[in-house]
Order: sequence, then C-alpha cells, then structure tokens
Amino acid sequence: MKPVCVITGGGSGIGLATAKILGQAHYIVISGRNAPKLDQAIAELKSDGVDAEAFVCDVADRSSVEQMAAHAKSLGRIAAVINAAGMSPHMGEAKKIMEANALGTINVNKAFYEVMEEGSCVVAISSMSAHVTPKIIMPVGCYKYSRSDKEIFIKKMMARVNLFPQKLRSDLAYCISKHFVIWYAKTDAAKMGEKGIRIVSVSPGSIATPMSELETDSARSIKYCAIKRFGRAEELANLIAFCISEKASYITGIDILCDGGCVASGYNPLKHR
Ligand SMILES: NC(=O)c1ccc[n+]([C@@H]2O[C@H](COP(=O)([O-])OP(=O)(O)OC[C@H]3O[C@@H](n4cnc5c(N)ncnc54)[C@H](OP(=O)(O)O)[C@@H]3O)[C@@H](O)[C@H]2O)c1
Repeated sequence: MKPVCVITGGGSGIGLATAKILGQAHYIVISGRNAPKLDQAIAELKSDGVDAEAFVCDVADRSSVEQMAAHAKSLGRIAAVINAAGMSPHMGEAKKIMEANALGTINVNKAFYEVMEEGSCVVAISSMSAHVTPKIIMPVGCYKYSRSDKEIFIKKMMARVNLFPQKLRSDLAYCISKHFVIWYAKTDAAKMGEKGIRIVSVSPGSIATPMSELETDSARSIKYCAIKRFGRAEELANLIAFCISEKASYITGIDILCDGGCVASGYNPLKHR
C-alpha cells in the first residue's frame, strides 16, 4: 500500500501540479467543491499513471472535512496533507473568502491532527500577500479565538475587514486570512510535534494558475520581482514535495516564501499600482 496524501484544492492549479508529483510515491486523494472539475483532474492524473480518487469537500464545512479525514484514514497511513484550497479576491465576497481560507485551515488542521501519525506532514498554502500587506492591518490579537470559539473568531476577523470600504473588503479578507494561515501553522507546530507531525506554510508569489488569471495584481507584481515571470505550479509542487519529504525532517513551524524574489525586491501593492 502506498502512503496516502490528501490535497485540498487538488482539482486545479498548484494542488493538481502537486498531485502529479506526489502521486509518484503516494496514493492521492484530491478534494474541492466542484465534482466535475475533480473528475477531470482524476482523468488527467490517471493518464499520468497516478493512483488517485476524488472526495467532494468544502473546507469551510467542518463535518465535510471530518468525513474526508476519516475516509483518508480508512485508505491507509496518511503521510501528508496539502491544504491548497483557497479563494482569491475575485472569487467571492469577503466572508466567503475568510471562511474558505481561515476557517478551512482550522478545519483541516484539526480533523487531520486526529488521524495523522508520526512522521507525517501538513503543508498549508498561504500567500505572498500576507508578507506585503502592512502589518498594522492584521488583526493578530483576534487570531487566538480560532482555538476557542470559531464564531467569535470569524466575527472579529470580519469586523476588521468591514472597517474598510466595500470595494477593498474581498482583497483584505484574502490578505488577512492568508496572514492567519501562517500564524496558525506556526502556533500549531508544538501541538503537532507532540504526535511527531511536522507543519509548514508555503507562501506563493504570482503563480500561473486559474486563480492568478483572475487577479490583476498578480501580473502587475511581476515587473518588481527579481525573476521577471510568473512562477509555474510545478515549481511550487517541487517545494511542497521537499517539505513533506525526509529531507525536510527538521523543518516545522515556519513559512517558506516562494515568490521569485518579489518581496526581496521591495514590491509594495499599495505603492506599485
Ligand atoms: N496562483 C497564485 O498566484 C497564488 C498566489 C498566492 C497564493 N496562492 C494560493 O495557492 C492555493 C492554490 O491556488 P491556485 O493558484 O492553484 O488556484 P486554483 O487553481 O483556483 O485552486 C484553488 C482550488 O481551491 C478549491 N477551493 C476553493 N474554495 C474551496 C473550498 N471552500 N473548499 C474546498 N476547495 C476549495 C478550488 O476548487 P473548487 O472550485 O472545486 O472548490 C480550486 O481547485 C490557494 O490557497 C491560493 O490562495 C496562489
């Protein structure tokens, strides 16, 4: 039996590219909300010789994630969970984005903590936007409610988003939720470590996927990068493959920025418009 790897958001983009690489040594479970999209991805994976199946799951829905975790455990030892599901600013209204990205992260970590074993790894996908958005905007003091009361947590996160004009709210929900993803991975590391599970977050810059086609900021940032092109989904997939491998066995509780040197070159989305 191959070890199992679960990839949320595995129906497209970075998640699907990761499934192709990790599928060489793992049994892959891809998930998302859209069944036909998942079926098409499974056909693509199978034609590449990857053993894979789909599980329809909305990461914002706790019971749906718990069912997926239980199913994954029934398939064998879970070696890795890649949480690539995410909504960007043009994909929905602010609260939906917050729920998919922030609540989704909480649901995935909690459900899979219960079923993962020593030597496994969780990779949470954040974003370069978490690094370039002014820190003063981030409601860091509210993040702790993610561990006590999810309703209060979402209410407080949205209260910060709603301080800003309507037209900025989806963008801000994205940046704040992705900043939270990094915080949550970092502050979950000790608890995960007690079970011998590692956890890292990865922050992509502008990567050529269906998501970045919708976001004009992605294309605009390229000219400020040290490497003046979009990143390829495979480049992120290779980093994720390293993160879950034995080669990264002493790496946990950190964020890895993979942005073609955009942050290093001083890109500022407020200034460089
Ligand atoms: N591409 C970039 O430039 C870039 C930059 C920074 C960060 N990222 C992050 O990288 C991750 C992957 O994005 P991508 O670029 O590969 O875009 P993508 O192709 O749009 O992939 C995102 C996937 O997430 C799934 N998804 C969205 N909401 C979901 C939910 N509530 N529950 C379950 N699945 C959900 C979507 O599938 P369904 O529609 O079937 O649900 C989709 O397959 C995201 O977290 C994104 O924020 C991307």
